[in-house]
Amino acid sequence: MSKTAGSPQAAQQQIKVTLSGLEPRQYSIVVAPDLLNRLGEECAQVLAADAKILLLTDANLAERYLETAMASLKTGGFEVFPLVVPAGEQSKSLSQAQQVYETAMQANMTRKDAILGLGGGVIGDLAGFCASTYHRGMGVIHVPTTLVAQVDSAIGGKTAVNFGQVKNIVGTFHQPLRVISDSTTLDTLPKRELAAGMAEVIKYGLIETSCTGQSGFFQWLLDQAQAGTLRANFAEMIRRCCEIKAAVVMQDELETKGLRFFLNLGHTFGHAYESLSDYGLLHGEAVAIGMLKALRLSVSLGMFPETVEAQLETLYRHTNLLGCVNRSLPYEPETLLGKMKLDKKNRDANIRLVLPVDAIGQVVVRDDVPDDKILKILAQS
Ligand code: NAD
Ligand code: GLY
Repeated sequence: MSKTAGSPQAAQQQIKVTLSGLEPRQYSIVVAPDLLNRLGEECAQVLAADAKILLLTDANLAERYLETAMASLKTGGFEVFPLVVPAGEQSKSLSQAQQVYETAMQANMTRKDAILGLGGGVIGDLAGFCASTYHRGMGVIHVPTTLVAQVDSAIGGKTAVNFGQVKNIVGTFHQPLRVISDSTTLDTLPKRELAAGMAEVIKYGLIETSCTGQSGFFQWLLDQAQAGTLRANFAEMIRRCCEIKAAVVMQDELETKGLRFFLNLGHTFGHAYESLSDYGLLHGEAVAIGMLKALRLSVSLGMFPETVEAQLETLYRHTNLLGCVNRSLPYEPETLLGKMKLDKKNRDANIRLVLPVDAIGQVVVRDDVPDDKILKILAQS
């Protein structure tokens, strides 16, 4: 990680993601306030001066940020082709991908050009998917504007669209050329979306040691939250999350070695709640519920100290997650268990869970937990 001191970019943090394989690759994640005004300079770090940019965004973001982003890219000398899609999960579709391909073709774009996704995970996943398939692969630059996207979806190269009612079923791995995270854009993010993003942040605190060998992020979050200084330290918080995710991706880019699976803490429980709510619960809200359930299961199996639950609840209270976690949801434990058994991460008939073990920051994958133990946790309010 490097920090540029004594310049307008003084507050800028850079995390490098270095990937091995047939063609070793590297890209930077840049985190700083007000980066939208410097998009042109940032893109010039990874694109040729005559590259064209397809700027993909959604209607909510276009209203707020399209003009600034376009102006900055044009000042950088780039020819820009904007495409605005509707906000929301329904835009992660093959029909929206078709619109992206049409725009790219009309602009005569080739592999030296790039798609820039300005938005949350929906835009990032669509931009990445289209970039990985158009011309057998062109560049994608992520400019994430939600907390979920800044700490998770913009990093690591997973792309997807939904198909036939199944989420993320059609997708690729395609690493970005650069991730440009403007922490100021979070100022306009709805409070509920921000809270949902905090669930993914807290998740990093609970898996940090298993991913990086280090610890302390969970305690740092707790200290900041209790002191009321978390919001003021968002850039630092995002940087720390990016470092953890980057460490995972560098070691297990294609999720073949088990490490990337740790990112699923809380997700197997969470997906059951999310899908039964018919996606009325935001993904992060469901993950918050799922992490609490996973923690309680570990405690009930004698794998994890009981005292951490109160700390997790304190963090949830300070990050506006406690309300949704404590809301009584009308789902029968057996129905939830049935959903968990359908989770695509399972192997055979066994539910595959990431569970906290021993101390904060450490997790383990278990697929041998008896159904009655899981049911007992699902039955708790
Ligand atoms: P999202 O992209 O739908 O954004 C949430 C809402 O916030 C949208 O209405 C959007 O228009 C609005 N918005 C975004 N930024 C804003 C801002 N700065 N100010 C005001 N409004 C803003 O939701 P998300 O949570 O960012 O992403 C969810 C998607 O990400 C899902 O499709 C999920 O599958 C995907 N995802 C992918 C990965 C990955 O590794 N590729 C990881 C996690 C999630
Ligand atoms: N969001 C999970 C992953 O990137 O693997």
